[in-house]
Amino acid sequence: MKQTALVKARIFEEEHGAQVLPQERPVFHVTPTIGWLNDPNGFSIYKGEYHLFYQYYPYDIHWGPTHWGHLKSKDFIKWERLPAALAPDSDYDIQGVFSGSAIELPDGRQLLMYTGVRGKDNTPECHQTQCIAIGDGTNYQKYEKNPVITADDIPEPCFAKDFRDPKIWWDEEEASFFAVAGIRVADESGAAALFSSKDGFSWSYVTILDYCRNEYGKMWECPDFFELGEKALLIVSPQEMLAEDLKFHNGNDVICLIGKYNKSEHQFTRERVEALDYGLDFYAPQTLKTPDGRRILIAWMQSWETSHLCPNSAKWNGMLTIARELTFVNGKLLQNPVRELLAYRKDPVIHQNIACKQQATALPKVSGRVLDMTVNIYPAEEHTLKRFTIRLAANEDYHTSITYDAQLGTVCFDRTYSGFRYNIITKREAPVRDQKGKISLRILMDRFSIEVFINNGEQVMSSTVYTPQEADGIFFEADGNGYFDVEKYELSL
Ligand code: FRU
Repeated sequence: MKQTALVKARIFEEEHGAQVLPQERPVFHVTPTIGWLNDPNGFSIYKGEYHLFYQYYPYDIHWGPTHWGHLKSKDFIKWERLPAALAPDSDYDIQGVFSGSAIELPDGRQLLMYTGVRGKDNTPECHQTQCIAIGDGTNYQKYEKNPVITADDIPEPCFAKDFRDPKIWWDEEEASFFAVAGIRVADESGAAALFSSKDGFSWSYVTILDYCRNEYGKMWECPDFFELGEKALLIVSPQEMLAEDLKFHNGNDVICLIGKYNKSEHQFTRERVEALDYGLDFYAPQTLKTPDGRRILIAWMQSWETSHLCPNSAKWNGMLTIARELTFVNGKLLQNPVRELLAYRKDPVIHQNIACKQQATALPKVSGRVLDMTVNIYPAEEHTLKRFTIRLAANEDYHTSITYDAQLGTVCFDRTYSGFRYNIITKREAPVRDQKGKISLRILMDRFSIEVFINNGEQVMSSTVYTPQEADGIFFEADGNGYFDVEKYELSL
């Protein structure tokens, strides 16, 4: 009886998923089997494979009471679809099986930890609690003692309607599970609450790792907390942010609080706050640690504010970013596509020392919508190059541009002419390091998206572009004197 909603979802996705033609999806980015996708969930390792779940509503291309969709992979690039894992079918999660995480238990079972929502949004009945399901990598049973954490476990006034998105990890030194979740406290803004458990089932409150104090948006969604090198990183997705320079934009944004963690006291001391992505579509990232020690991040490549603007004829809506490796180099956080992507590069095309021209110039064999292309740009002499633009997904009617402005020290991503018929923000800028006019841009395109990794991952800009696929031209143009190199690969599975 309990499983009815899940059985229904599995039958539905089996019937309808196959109707989405391969060319209607990106090649190497995750999309839902059918219908709606938002946050990545349960990004983790289980029995030696990477598992990835996602916020899922199979029945519509718009958000509905969320299920968990499910995939697995050996390399973060090629994903195998699995049947939906969870559906809203219990009194404590009937309004949605919201975001959460996963871990392998010592006894070999897989534990999913998620937020159960009961009562409609913005009603006094709305209640969010943390719940558990246990399974074998395909099928899951909700725990009979759910929920396992409620807002009452937090010893300060907070709002049970905004308590969500637990991220679980195991700490070997403390021989304990920990989980961090977002909560709204008395000042009506967010905080990241830490909990611990010896067995993964019975949880107790530890501390608040950090408070928003109305400084970085309001509610903090989807927290993740981990150590990277000498630093500890608390990543959160604030709602209702206010823009600050080029660093933060209005609305739902993602910030990375970088600091130190005193493990024995469970005390996080924030040192600085950075943006994680400067594109138009990036939210709710989640990370895992690979057995070889890499910290890998994946996010929803979409902004909530524009997520409803997709053609009614679409069969799916929502995709995830490429998985990225996070590193610290000279105190700087770098993000680059997982190295596993290199194995999928085909047909190299290399052009070197091309003189910059004012008119838009195409290069032999440099075009396409599914590719990995690095463009290194150099001024002829210091400061002789003012601006350099790459036009992508271009034909007579459309183009999307990436412009490096050496005088302003910015890279601007502009999809104004990508064929989007809505009055929305179409441009965003990232500040870049001054290298006397030099810059490196690695561009990943996958039919419906463009991800730009600037200067070996110092900044990233992730955006969707739904330009018709026949617009596949690439052009280079510049203002000033300089040179550029292009190294381009097709990507195929
Ligand atoms: C973030 C979010 C989460 C929530 C989920 C619901 O995008 O709002 O806080 O768990 O989406 O789908």
